[in-house]
Amino acid sequence: MQNVTLTREQAAVYQAIEHTREHVFVTGRAGTGKSTLLNHLNWNTQKQIVICAPTGVAALNVGGQTIHSLFRLPIGVIADHDIDQNDAVRKILNAMDTLVIDEVSMVNADLMDAMDRSLRQARQRPHEAFGGAQVVLFGDPYQLAPVPGSGDERRYFADTYRSMWFFDAKVWQEADLRIYELGEVHRQHDDAFKHMLNAVRHGIVTAEIAGMLNETGARRPLPEHGAITLATTNDTVNRINRTQLHRLPGQSQANEAEVNGDFGGRAFPADETLELKLGAQVMFLRNDTALGPDGQRWVNGTIGTVTSLKREVRVEIDGDEHEVEPVTWEKYKYSWDPGRKKLERQIVAEFTQYPLRLAWAVTIHKSQGASYDAAIVDLGSRVFSPGQTYVALSRLTSLEGLYLARPLRPSDIIVDRDVERFMSGAQREIGTAGEAHSA
Ligand SMILES: Nc1ncnc2c1ncn2[C@@H]1O[C@H](COP(=O)(O)OP(=O)(O)OP(=O)(O)O)[C@@H](O)[C@H]1O
Ligand SMILES: [Mg+2]
Repeated sequence: MQNVTLTREQAAVYQAIEHTREHVFVTGRAGTGKSTLLNHLNWNTQKQIVICAPTGVAALNVGGQTIHSLFRLPIGVIADHDIDQNDAVRKILNAMDTLVIDEVSMVNADLMDAMDRSLRQARQRPHEAFGGAQVVLFGDPYQLAPVPGSGDERRYFADTYRSMWFFDAKVWQEADLRIYELGEVHRQHDDAFKHMLNAVRHGIVTAEIAGMLNETGARRPLPEHGAITLATTNDTVNRINRTQLHRLPGQSQANEAEVNGDFGGRAFPADETLELKLGAQVMFLRNDTALGPDGQRWVNGTIGTVTSLKREVRVEIDGDEHEVEPVTWEKYKYSWDPGRKKLERQIVAEFTQYPLRLAWAVTIHKSQGASYDAAIVDLGSRVFSPGQTYVALSRLTSLEGLYLARPLRPSDIIVDRDVERFMSGAQREIGTAGEAHSA
């Protein structure tokens, strides 16, 4: 993963992050290489960077820390409450040049402002946004929205902010945010399909486009094997996986994860007890790291079938059998090393499990970031959040791999008004030439 060659536009964004101190928002359609670029930055930057993300799983995926644990913030709305900082936190916030936030679309305005205040306080620069640190944000607001909290929280946001979104935080009244939009889609190669996905993204699906998606997706029998179902709810996903596992003959084998250290409760990156059976359809949760003679054997999202559970777990992918070993997810915490005068990343907890999950079905939410060659998109009785249909459809690498459990309806396409307002008003840079253009 760290060896990918950046495209020109990705390289231009990387240069802007590396060689300026501007606050940057790296965005772009699904599959434009945002995660790839973040990974490259992590491996190559000369700056003292700290990577964080709003959720535990998102943080694990990028080898960072959750925002709440990094800043030691309380759960819930922070508003203008005092921010408690111990010495360790102060040192980290002081030492960093750049704060990188992944999946920023899930960060709400209150949390964005709390990070600003916390950095000003720790760095003792009360009049400078983020205390003078550079902030680099990654994400696509057309995919994931911040989670609406309790009724009280929602009222607080309605009274205080234009919207819950990070881009409506107060700090942006004082600081400029430079937006880089990656334009080139790498996950799909067919222009017609890319055009359809873009229409879904922006809520401009014509009858013709809907017709083409439904013609391919909904007018043929669903495949029995090899395609994962992307569903809107956990209930549907669990039901499908349980039913399919039961249907297989033989005994299932329970594989217990090994957990060392404190994982903060529920934030496990894989099942604590992974139930497998011969013939079970599974999905890989990590990229293959053992680069053997046949190259990378699987990536995050690859689907396969369990063919052996005896001494070793073996999984068949496209006709080839591979032995799969447990992998370790490391939970990191940043700390300041006074001797070397560097920010260090330490492992505070480890979770070891086969990098597999039962994969007859997965929620659309959990499919974020992944790529699939074939999938059954099951939008159930209704789509209930903006971007959900776009996330589901944009996981497919081609239109040929798309199956729809039911035809798309106009009500499945929901675009968040605030996102439209922000993105259409935003001045942005395109990576390639670095020229400013307005949308
Ligand atoms: N410079 C590149 N060269 C080759 N492949 C690339 C490059 N950049 C991205 N890709 C590939 O394109 C696919 C999508 O990239 P990535 O997951 O980084 O996109 P993303 O913008 O994070 O998408 P999403 O919004 O769905 O999370 C991946 O398979 C990735 O390996
Ligand atoms: Mg991504």
